[in-house]
Amino acid sequence: MADKDRVERLLASMTLEEKLGQLNMIDAGAPPMGEPEMERQVAAGRIGSLLNIHGAERLNRLQKMAVDNRLKIPLIFGLDVLHGHRTIFPLPIAETCAFDPGLWERTARAAVEETSRAAVTLTFAPMLDVCRDPRWGRIAEGPGEDTLVTSRYAEAKVRGFQGTDLRDGVAATAKHMGAYGAVAAGRDYGSADISERQLAEVYLPPFEAAVKAGVAAVMPSFNDVAGIPATAHGEILNDLLRTRWGFDGIVVSDYTAVVELIAHGVAGDIAEASALALKSGVDIDMQDEAYVRGLPDALKRGLVTMGDIDRAVRRMLTLKERLGLLDDTYRRTSAPPLPANHYDALARDAARRSAVLLKNEKSVLPLKPGTRRIAVIGPLGDDPLQMFGCWFAAAGMDSATIVRGLRAALPQTEILHEIGAHIEEPGETGIAAAVAAARSADVVILCVGEKKEMTGEAQGRGRLELPGSQRALAEAVLAVGKPTVAILCAGRPLTVPWLFERADAALAAWFLGSEAGHGIADVLTGAWSPSGKLSVTWPHDVGQIPIFYSHRATGRPAVPDVYYCNRHTDLPIEPQFHFGHGLSYTRFAVTKLNATPAEISGDQSVTIEAEVANEGGVAGEETLFLFLRDPVASVARPVLELKDFAKAVLKPGERKTVRFTLARNDLAFLGRDLKPRVEPGEFQIFVGANADRSKLTATAIRYR
Ligand code: BGC
Repeated sequence: MADKDRVERLLASMTLEEKLGQLNMIDAGAPPMGEPEMERQVAAGRIGSLLNIHGAERLNRLQKMAVDNRLKIPLIFGLDVLHGHRTIFPLPIAETCAFDPGLWERTARAAVEETSRAAVTLTFAPMLDVCRDPRWGRIAEGPGEDTLVTSRYAEAKVRGFQGTDLRDGVAATAKHMGAYGAVAAGRDYGSADISERQLAEVYLPPFEAAVKAGVAAVMPSFNDVAGIPATAHGEILNDLLRTRWGFDGIVVSDYTAVVELIAHGVAGDIAEASALALKSGVDIDMQDEAYVRGLPDALKRGLVTMGDIDRAVRRMLTLKERLGLLDDTYRRTSAPPLPANHYDALARDAARRSAVLLKNEKSVLPLKPGTRRIAVIGPLGDDPLQMFGCWFAAAGMDSATIVRGLRAALPQTEILHEIGAHIEEPGETGIAAAVAAARSADVVILCVGEKKEMTGEAQGRGRLELPGSQRALAEAVLAVGKPTVAILCAGRPLTVPWLFERADAALAAWFLGSEAGHGIADVLTGAWSPSGKLSVTWPHDVGQIPIFYSHRATGRPAVPDVYYCNRHTDLPIEPQFHFGHGLSYTRFAVTKLNATPAEISGDQSVTIEAEVANEGGVAGEETLFLFLRDPVASVARPVLELKDFAKAVLKPGERKTVRFTLARNDLAFLGRDLKPRVEPGEFQIFVGANADRSKLTATAIRYR
């Protein structure tokens, strides 16, 4: 609980300039006023928080300047810790493929241990933008296409970052609210012109989950939602977030988003922009000094009141109080240092759990013991910087590459390496050497994909093929005819049907972080039976986008060879890989699906059980998905909706019962009035290994 009196006493003693200072967040790596002036303003209490900065020594020096001021209010230091700080864990799109909330929490906690020692007290994570369009570069930073998975991810990350007491954690930011993942054509910063239903059903629930988990901050997105920029969206930020959900933390704008309200065309000048953002619920203005420059004028013009300003300042001071900064400002940085390799084992475990085995034919994987020579070919085979993907603030320059991982795992095997081609730059001069290496090897590991710089913010791509000369390289190497495993390192699904057709095996390795190569080697050698499952549907072709499993039914469903039906004439109906797809080295079978009671009413719940058996020869982990369909409702429901997922860890020959509970709420949907309702009737229940409906086992229940 925050000490309210203390916050009120502070507030009462502040001048307008000092109040605006608390709302002013500046990028310490690129301060608009220059560094000396930034330091002067910190000392004068004109800046309340800094971002893009870490490291105890420098930060403590700045902190001292701030607390030497008459008000003694410490700074908050913010940083994007999307998937680790010094130890980098898999990108969020990858880590969600582990379908493991415990892991998601552990990696966030590990990041806190590292960031808080570096004086950081606020992270701009987790990123909770549901995304069904892999053209959008920021799909890499988020948990994929599904609302329930994103909500579970939200809860786990907030728990991990914040712990049970903010004084021992780092404040988390649920971002970017809302519907940022729906920007048109995947072009960053564009419009998300979506229905209120989609907003409420698909894009906003993860933010509600974060609020329920106690998230300390929320960041509105850069885009507009059907004409209203999120930074000026009072209905979302005030009415929904604060009033209906009871959020009591800070809302921090995205980078220069307040001034951008002018460019959006909803504010005429900086006074109007800052008034609009503040009135709409944005407390902290990131980087452009819009509040400092615009709010004094806005006050004079009557666009805001001192009460509006005080409300935002109060929230910022309360957060500082909750973080323990007012009492023991330097406590986090005085914790004993962690050894450099402290989280390596966790990072390796996260990496191998996040890789998704997409294809494995002719038993090319796991690699046979005693393999004499392996050729690792491609620009992503041995480039330590590339394994991080976007956001890796304090990672240094090193990571375990695939070559390094294989050399460590297979000391008796000769591991050759040829780059063959650069990731983006054209040029085919390296291909001949790559082909020669492939010819001389028993197995080829082809490491292709995107540059880490092609993932994340402002990295929309209109084509999702391999960039540069990588296709020419891959085709030349495949033509050699050796057993070939394609490893795709990328921040999004790539549309390479020709590669999936011709390679014997394919692994989605995303960007797996500091221990990428060791985690991948664990999978390739069979030290770990792959268990990752796609958190996003993988298209064959850009023309299929948006493609996601929970689409609505149509009057004319897609059926091969039917003329008037819901399909493209020149593309397959099905995706390349379904949501949830992911192979292992063993075989799992799901049987004995049972729902009891089969008929419920009122607040009763249903227990759903299914038996999963390991029918193969090695131990493994299987994730089972529980989907629901409401076949007749007053608003058409999706053909499948994920309601839960669970794991079974099984030895060869072992079988286990997996149990789920469906509560009344799980049967609810938003009616025509967008209010939740449950309608009586039949509900179909599906359990299985992925969202391929033809392979799910089914039963049904009735709600009376
Ligand atoms: C991004 C945010 C990020 C912020 C601060 C912005 O450009 O959209 O996700 O938190 O920068 O680095």
